[in-house]
Amino acid sequence: MAGFTGKIVLVTGATSGIGEATARAFARSGATVVAVGRNQDKGAAVAAECAAVGGVGSLFLAADVTEPEAMSGVVGQVMERFGRLDVAFNNAGWQEPRAPLDEQPDAVFDQVFDTNVRALFLAMKAEIAVMRGQGGGVVINNASVSGVRNPNPGLSLYAASKAAALALTRSAAMECAPQGIRINAVSPGRIVTPMMLGSKIADMSVVAAGLPARRLGQPEEVAEAVLWLASDAASFVIGHNFCVDGGFLAA
Ligand code: NAI
Repeated sequence: MAGFTGKIVLVTGATSGIGEATARAFARSGATVVAVGRNQDKGAAVAAECAAVGGVGSLFLAADVTEPEAMSGVVGQVMERFGRLDVAFNNAGWQEPRAPLDEQPDAVFDQVFDTNVRALFLAMKAEIAVMRGQGGGVVINNASVSGVRNPNPGLSLYAASKAAALALTRSAAMECAPQGIRINAVSPGRIVTPMMLGSKIADMSVVAAGLPARRLGQPEEVAEAVLWLASDAASFVIGHNFCVDGGFLAA
């Protein structure tokens, strides 16, 4: 894997699951990681671990990404401190409690779309502005296979929000490629994280057996894909949806 020494990498939702694993992986590759999340204690611990494994200068910035000024504030602090932003992994996401579409409260729709779509828009807006100014950068959005083909009855809003995240990714990629900003999505399948474990799947072994890989994925396997997309090895990869799903979408 290409080194990220000297690179400034922003990771949202870095206090658990895929975000935490990716923050650590970037730090091990030498990046200075700016971990963003809501849990101050966990965030500080992740940043300290990042600094200890090779990500010199890594730090935590507390933010709720759905707050209107949160991500412009975070990106502003990154620019004040480091003067540039090389890579942004927009990973924070939220999944509604499982229920049939006609039973989902309107407020749940708002929370899903505020987190998975509006906050993504606000983050990209802030990140792209500074990347344009500095002459390039890389953005990776965490979408989901559910945005392409939803395996989850009762999670329609989540699926719709992730389809929107993929559409935003493609459109932004097309707009920004001429300025040297590469934007892609990663779409995890079933990955063992607090979100997946909280989704009330009755029998995980049945779910795992139904996948071509015959197992669930680990957050570190998604992190590897994100690092590759962020690296110069992916220099001509633009507007892509990189699925890390144990073969789910191929089946
Ligand atoms: P997770 O629940 O461990 O991580 C989600 C992170 O986002 C948490 O750290 C959470 O605090 C943060 N977050 C949520 N709302 C936030 C807000 N308003 N402000 C700041 N941070 C916020 O779950 P996981 O699985 O690691 O999820 C990461 C991403 O991966 C999400 O976008 C999710 O939709 C996506 N994904 C996960 C899959 C899985 O099977 N685990 C499958 C497909 C996509």
